[in-house]
Amino acid sequence: MSPRLPFGRRSLPRVYVTRQLPGDALDRLRGDAEVEVWDGEEPPPRDELLRGIGDAEGLLCLLTDNIDAGLLDAAPRLRVISTMAVGYDHIDVEAATGRGVAVCHTPGVLTETTADFAFALLLAAARRVPEGERTVREGRWSTWHPSFLVGYDVGGATLGIVGLGQIGQAVARRARGFEMRILYHSRNPNPEAEREVGCTYASFEEVLSLSDFVTVHVPLTPETRHLFNEAAFQRMKPTSVFVNTSRGAVVDEAALHHALASHQIAAAAIDVTETEPLSSQDPLLRLPNLLVTPHIASASVATRGRMAGLAVDDLLAVLGGRQPAHCVNQQVLAERGG
Ligand code: GLV
Repeated sequence: MSPRLPFGRRSLPRVYVTRQLPGDALDRLRGDAEVEVWDGEEPPPRDELLRGIGDAEGLLCLLTDNIDAGLLDAAPRLRVISTMAVGYDHIDVEAATGRGVAVCHTPGVLTETTADFAFALLLAAARRVPEGERTVREGRWSTWHPSFLVGYDVGGATLGIVGLGQIGQAVARRARGFEMRILYHSRNPNPEAEREVGCTYASFEEVLSLSDFVTVHVPLTPETRHLFNEAAFQRMKPTSVFVNTSRGAVVDEAALHHALASHQIAAAAIDVTETEPLSSQDPLLRLPNLLVTPHIASASVATRGRMAGLAVDDLLAVLGGRQPAHCVNQQVLAERGG
């Protein structure tokens, strides 16, 4: 409980928020905290972030904010970091844990929206939708031709899912509607999910070599960094399509460039890149068989509202001494409670 001030006024915890949020999330936050919001479209520069969190007890951030040990050292009163993202690789969780700071994220509420987008990318790349659109706009559509912009069938093809968490399973459910054969690889086999969504466990190498489509749904960790390297792309079929909606650094982009340019694989569709935003001069953008979108897989109005709401709820829960829904370093809270 916050201490009482004279005249019945509560002293509210100070919270720094690194961007304007959709919906009523900030209004709710303002009901229980003294809130400062960075108003820029771009992420706050480091100096501003250091200043903003200097005396904050809560930080609500986005995946574009790099929260490292140096930053945490500048925030001695910080008790919780709540990120409006499912992936929390932008936060040094070990450093936060060492300093007794709880880290919360927003899984679940973006699962279906992200799976929709992964499937949209898969279909678009398979059937060459962006190339078709460019052809029309650029006045290069001359006639109907039997081999004009032919792509690959999705219905009945084999889908390989790497990472069978919530989003991977949601993609599998969509694939069933397309009567796809579904293989998956994850750290551990998941027999319950196999039964539920109708997929079969295979080694990483088998998933690569047997699938017509490979879609990635793993978090970025030291183990998954550059999981898709030259050797991985070499294993894939020359007719295969690669889809990534997870994190850019799961892919070695030089290897992806080579695989696409040399037609080791047919096409790729990626929503994430190693460096974001991707430079408009990046050699990847000269590849006609690559579809790139600007990290928007969870970008539906409803889902972004839910993500902001959940990030606020969890932040307030920690500051109010309650159990948040999704804390990644629960030991911090257990220690506080004990
Ligand atoms: C988006 O990439 C997220 O992690 O929520």
